[in-house]
Amino acid sequence: MSDQRGQFSSKIGFLMAATGSAVGLGNIWGFPTQAASNGGGAFLLAYLVLAFLLAYPALVAELVIGRHARANIVTALDTLGENRATKGLGRAVGYYGVLVASLILSFYAIVAGWMLAEFGKPLAQLLGWQGAADWLASDALGRNLLVCGLFTAATVAIIAKGVENGIEAWSTRLMPLLFLILLGLILYVFTQPGAGEGLKNYLIPDFTQLTDPGLLLSAMGQAFFSLSLGVGTMLIYGSYLRKTDSLPRLGAAVTLLDTGIAFTAGLLILPTMYVAQAQGIAIYSEGGDLLAGPGLIFQVLPALFSTMGGAGIWLSIAFFALMSIAALTSSISMLEAPVSVVTERTRLKRTGAAWTIGLLIFAVSTIILLNMSTLFDAAVSLTTEYSQPLLGIALCVFVGWIMRRNQLLNELKAGHRDIEHSLFWKIWPFYVRLVCPVLILLAFIQSLR
Ligand code: TRP
Repeated sequence: MSDQRGQFSSKIGFLMAATGSAVGLGNIWGFPTQAASNGGGAFLLAYLVLAFLLAYPALVAELVIGRHARANIVTALDTLGENRATKGLGRAVGYYGVLVASLILSFYAIVAGWMLAEFGKPLAQLLGWQGAADWLASDALGRNLLVCGLFTAATVAIIAKGVENGIEAWSTRLMPLLFLILLGLILYVFTQPGAGEGLKNYLIPDFTQLTDPGLLLSAMGQAFFSLSLGVGTMLIYGSYLRKTDSLPRLGAAVTLLDTGIAFTAGLLILPTMYVAQAQGIAIYSEGGDLLAGPGLIFQVLPALFSTMGGAGIWLSIAFFALMSIAALTSSISMLEAPVSVVTERTRLKRTGAAWTIGLLIFAVSTIILLNMSTLFDAAVSLTTEYSQPLLGIALCVFVGWIMRRNQLLNELKAGHRDIEHSLFWKIWPFYVRLVCPVLILLAFIQSLR
């Protein structure tokens, strides 16, 4: 059984896949405006520190569990337990985690579908298919179902091809493309009037805003979502790593790449927003906050692109290709969590498991689409605000308290020979035992208020 398991063929393959999971809609539509509204450069600095203090140790914890057990989250947590109670608890946490991953995917695919529609719209215009372009721009249920279904099918098709030919192959193709599009767009936007002001707003630090503890805690939550933690995504990617790779080093690289791309996305988003403002487009909400999320992506940007004539069409194709790619490399990592559980614990083969689970997830997306006003926000907060932090705490507890200490240390040593002399070695074990669970709990309580 174990020799049939997939494996990443190289470190780069893992890095592309894990960074692809981390870099998603959250990095592009959430992070930049949050930074600009909360102290600019000062927030960036604080975010970087927090990402390394809180999210990074939890990420290494997931990688350690995954590679140690060489299994999906349910089986992995089950084998860590020493008695019936901890084994049962492990399976329960595991099943809950993949359920949360599936629910996240069911609303993520809806939003990703909108990105596909916005990508298709200018293409249809270029081809002279005005009717199709208008339909893609509408908010009809049929259009939402079609684009969400297409996106889910693309996710399933990649996962059905397995770790090396699916996840790794597509991440290594798409991530460099994502980065190139991002850089190209930044270079173009920098030449437009108003861009400088956006850059100033984004980068000039205002340290007085950092005294608010609520802000720091919400930045921790953002870091947690951005690194895809708690639901077994990083755990399963870790299980496909070879024993010759160093988990602390790879984890640090993923954290740096994720924060680096979030930062770089800000170099695009803030200048673009101020270019839009220079064209007379409103970029602040009525409450005086910078627009973020759907308001930013589906109102401000299309309004800006439509003032730019021919260039606008190409910009809009490039921008929504960027968003669709970012979403796709994240969604495949979400789907891999339940698919790996089913293929490793039942007789179902990967292809069958991927399509079955994909269909179930699409059914949930359909239910959400039919009840958008009540179910969408509920699904988002149930998963990202409540479940993810609690699952994160559970995983830290498993590594810190239930996994045997020598197993843990051996896993860290594998692929990292001189680790015993490092700072990481001295701090991390204590960190996941106590500091991480307490910090995550604090962030969680804060988010309830
Ligand atoms: N990190 C991704 C983003 O920033 C989303 C994501 C992918 C995710 N896999 C996840 C979030 C698992 C939570 C859990 O958009």
